Amino acid sequence: MKKDYLAFLDLSASEVEALTGRAIELKAGKNSSACPLIGKSIGLLFDKASTRTRISFQAGIYQLGAQGIYINANELQLGRGETIEDTARVLSRYLHAIVIRTFAHETIVKFAANAKIPVINGLTDLHHPCQALADIMTIKEKKGSLRGIRLVYIGDGNNVANSLIEASLLTGMDLTVSCPEGYEPDRKIFGHALSQGAKVKIIKNPFDAAKGADVLYTDVWVSMGQEEESEKKKKVFSDYRINEKLLSNAKPEAIVMHCLPAHRGEEITDEAIDSGQSVVFDQAENRLHTQKALLEMLLK
Ligand code: CP
Ligand code: NVA
Repeated sequence: MKKDYLAFLDLSASEVEALTGRAIELKAGKNSSACPLIGKSIGLLFDKASTRTRISFQAGIYQLGAQGIYINANELQLGRGETIEDTARVLSRYLHAIVIRTFAHETIVKFAANAKIPVINGLTDLHHPCQALADIMTIKEKKGSLRGIRLVYIGDGNNVANSLIEASLLTGMDLTVSCPEGYEPDRKIFGHALSQGAKVKIIKNPFDAAKGADVLYTDVWVSMGQEEESEKKKKVFSDYRINEKLLSNAKPEAIVMHCLPAHRGEEITDEAIDSGQSVVFDQAENRLHTQKALLEMLLK
């Protein structure tokens, strides 16, 4: 039976632990010459721009012995009216797995329901589960463990925030989301995590939220596909920025995270992202290792 990874909760707590452990081994070079996916083809169907997700998957797929086939969604017959369902059925005959980045989460759910191969979410408007895997690996590396870690997310309650909420449920991290009213994370995802015992809360004031944080995390105010809201959001979010003042309210040894790309001067200042406390480039690197571990797990 094929297994998809559309949202963080598609994995169990023990799978997440095994996967991050394996990613740490891969980073350390263990079995670096093994090619467990030799002869396989993995599609990368992208409807939106990407630097990290696309390139880290392509490089990782090659390192595992498989080939990655990048597919610009606009160049498929999808754009001329072929259905998602038929596209999923056809691509399942050629590929061994597929990574999809698209807009509506329902699109990837529909694709996965009709595909015979594992489908991996490379970001939708609702979830960014591959990012959350790299995030928890990074926190584990820098802080030694996840349970009880106080993670404070500052900014838009978007796809990245939603996946961090699911990650906090499975890892025991204590997550505070600080966002303006009307920009909270997905209500269903938040409510579900809370009802299952996740230590998640929302604090509107970013300075109060940052108090005692082990990790300060932010993401862009305007996600891909929301460009028409740009001017309005820049006003609403002007206090939701990681800067030196906010950082001074966190623990002295707190780390700064950002999934990138950053809009320097908006959600994060140069001083904060370039400070000694910032781990954003280790975090970006860990996309490669966690996704390789994910592919090994889904395709074994
Ligand atoms: N963090 C992330 O997903 O980056 P890209 O949009 O560059 O893939
Ligand atoms: N929330 C951002 C994440 C980019 C990696 C977006 O969806 O554009």
